[in-house]
Amino acid sequence: MNSLFEQCFNSLPGTRITEKTERLAQKLASAPPLYYAGLHMTLLEGVKPLTRVRTPSGQVRDMLMLGSNSFLNLNFHPQVLEAERKAAERFGSGAGSPPLYAGQTVLHEELEERLASFCGTEAALVFPAGYSGNIGVLSALCRPCDTLFCDSSNHASLFDGARLSGTRISPYLHLNTKHLEKQLKQCSTPGKLIVSDGVFSMEGSIAPIDELVRLKWQYDAFLMIDDAHGFWAVGDFGHGSASLYGLRDEVDLHYGTFSKALGGVGGFAAGQRNVIDYLRYYARSTFFSSALPATVVAATLESIRIVEEEPWHLENLRRNRDYFQSRLEKAGFNTLNSRSAIIPLLVGDEDKLGRFQMALFDAGIFTNIGATPAVNASKCRLRLNVMASHTLEQLKFAADTIEQSGRNFGVIE
Ligand SMILES: Cc1ncc(COP(=O)(O)O)c(C=O)c1O
Repeated sequence: MNSLFEQCFNSLPGTRITEKTERLAQKLASAPPLYYAGLHMTLLEGVKPLTRVRTPSGQVRDMLMLGSNSFLNLNFHPQVLEAERKAAERFGSGAGSPPLYAGQTVLHEELEERLASFCGTEAALVFPAGYSGNIGVLSALCRPCDTLFCDSSNHASLFDGARLSGTRISPYLHLNTKHLEKQLKQCSTPGKLIVSDGVFSMEGSIAPIDELVRLKWQYDAFLMIDDAHGFWAVGDFGHGSASLYGLRDEVDLHYGTFSKALGGVGGFAAGQRNVIDYLRYYARSTFFSSALPATVVAATLESIRIVEEEPWHLENLRRNRDYFQSRLEKAGFNTLNSRSAIIPLLVGDEDKLGRFQMALFDAGIFTNIGATPAVNASKCRLRLNVMASHTLEQLKFAADTIEQSGRNFGVIE
């Protein structure tokens, strides 16, 4: 039963294309994995610390939300909603065109300027989604004659963009810069790009950016950091993972999303003006894709302003994640060196993980899992996301309940 989704996806060559769909349907009908129900929860309202959810069996209940990437949880901030309302009145509901046709409004322009100054770069470019932006950036930058060095835990969009470019992909072991250096030494292509998540989405760990910078200079490589989970969440003012090392200016291309800490949607790249100008024309996921609606852009701009002017959102996030991780580590959980608001609990057995997660749903706690295909089955984990809006009482209740369940299922002793 482990790796169900991988088994079905990797069907044999020579079989009909619909074989995959039939195999998955059969398996799900006979023995769905234990975590299957947890993948089909329906939210009946926006994310809050207590969120109303409908379970697959039709039960409606308020759950303590530990499953959202909306780390600062600004989604209901009155000024965000007001900015969105005003933008809707002025610009309507959608963009209707890609940015280079009739999709770029003054709000998009303002956001790009704001992002460039946030990252300390000359220019920035907004994409309609974090995923598609990475596809566009990597497929535009890398050529088949180049080599792309990719941390093995990087987000799928980075691997997918690399694949689309046809470039040679050289994955290195997670956070292992010795392994990366060995590969750089052996590489004979002149074009080299090192790409790494800043905060890793399944581990909560942070890239060794000091070492990545050293290696990029030593081996004449270009360095891109995708800090989707780090911007507006880690570092002073939420300036991201590279800022923790004081090395923001050494990153050649910053990449981020509005979909995590800010709770919105969209991606962006920030760097030298010539690189950004090139991407504006050659990153096909912006050139051939409609721009973000101005309402979303307005909400993003307002959320960025709030992070700058109301420092307590970031302070609460740090206080909450520090408290929660230390409680769970004291209980004996392996949190995989998380240093961010994503706190994984290693389980290592998908059936056990499914039972563990279902028990938490029953206790009113909404969690996510990291299982195949996101991570190897032997490294499967419960994935807990802390938000700035949680109270310490809520996190204490969650830690007590998770500790008890973890013992019941033999995840901890
Ligand atoms: C590192 C990284 N890059 C890109 C993305 C894709 O972002 P989005 O969900 O905004 O499409 C994610 C999403 O989890 C991510 O973790």
